[in-house]
Amino acid sequence: MAQKRPILITGGAGFIGSACAKALMDKKERVVLVDNFNDYYDPKLKNDRIKKLLKGYRFTLYRADIRDKKKIEKIFAKEKPKKVIHLAAMAGVRFSIEHPDLYADVNIMGSINILEECVKNKVENLVFASSSSVYGNTTNIPFSESAPVDTPLSPYAATKKADELLAHVYSHLHKLPIVAMRFFTVYGPWGRPDMALFKFADRIVKGEKIDVYNHGKMKRNFTYIDDIVSGVLTVLDRKTTYDVVNIGGDREETLLHFIEVIEKSFDKKAKKRMMAMQPGDVPATVADISKLRKMGWEPKTRIEEGVKNFVNWYREYYKV
Ligand SMILES: NC(=O)c1ccc[n+]([C@@H]2O[C@H](COP(=O)([O-])OP(=O)(O)OC[C@H]3O[C@@H](n4cnc5c(N)ncnc54)[C@H](O)[C@@H]3O)[C@@H](O)[C@H]2O)c1
Repeated sequence: MAQKRPILITGGAGFIGSACAKALMDKKERVVLVDNFNDYYDPKLKNDRIKKLLKGYRFTLYRADIRDKKKIEKIFAKEKPKKVIHLAAMAGVRFSIEHPDLYADVNIMGSINILEECVKNKVENLVFASSSSVYGNTTNIPFSESAPVDTPLSPYAATKKADELLAHVYSHLHKLPIVAMRFFTVYGPWGRPDMALFKFADRIVKGEKIDVYNHGKMKRNFTYIDDIVSGVLTVLDRKTTYDVVNIGGDREETLLHFIEVIEKSFDKKAKKRMMAMQPGDVPATVADISKLRKMGWEPKTRIEEGVKNFVNWYREYYKV
């Protein structure tokens, strides 16, 4: 009997990639992961997601760089994926300001390799990670997919916007069905150490001061990892040509309130250092999620529950 065509996930050892892989394998899908395990943050966490979070599951893992055209070509030719979730990228706004060339290389050139292989191998659907940062200094809140996004504020945001443009080109020229998902601040267990929740947790545990940018007035739609996964799976099953979809929590939270929730979960007060806004950052990212809602998706996790889950995981993982 012919083997079922797999779903290939780039960035499969990452925070969102590993969570998507687990959910897909729970649905009995065959999964292929591609990741280069780079050291933008501690690769041990990436290895542990594979070893611990995905323990007991059967999947194929390629340690490969999406910039390596030949290798990516070989992987696609061998695996013949029916669908692709493209998440591999240099993420992180601030690092991109010092390393714009790396971001262009990975996020744009690497993405072109994935797009090319999706076309060649007649992939049925490609879902890829864009970002709320493409909204830049758009002032119309909440951010709607129909708003112009011509004012990115960091090289990272510009590469994600470039990915969306390229995706449109490929869907137009090659009839490759593609959905760009604009993720809004994702958090949860097995998360990314460069993101606020993780950094706050590290410092609160050590009794160190936390930097509170824009004096805590920053507004975010924090999105719990399980809600991200259910959203990705929702669009992965839809027939489309080209679409852009926001995915974010349904509550506008200030950074200060988010910190209060973390303090409660740790049962410990944070020492705060109030700071001005950082370059490249945006004061508010609030999602209009009506489009994804119409597809039957709903965010289910409030920060009170999601942060608690993160803190429980953090305590167990780091034995604190
Ligand atoms: N987490 C968020 O809040 C958020 C928000 C908006 C957009 N995104 C986007 O979602 C995607 C996944 O983010 P994440 O939070 O899981 O980040 P992550 O860094 O945990 O995952 C990305 C993975 O891609 C891998 N990778 C990076 N460069 C690669 C390369 N050249 N070749 C192969 N693999 C490579 C990394 O090793 C990592 O495991 C990224 O594209 C990111 O830009 C994330």
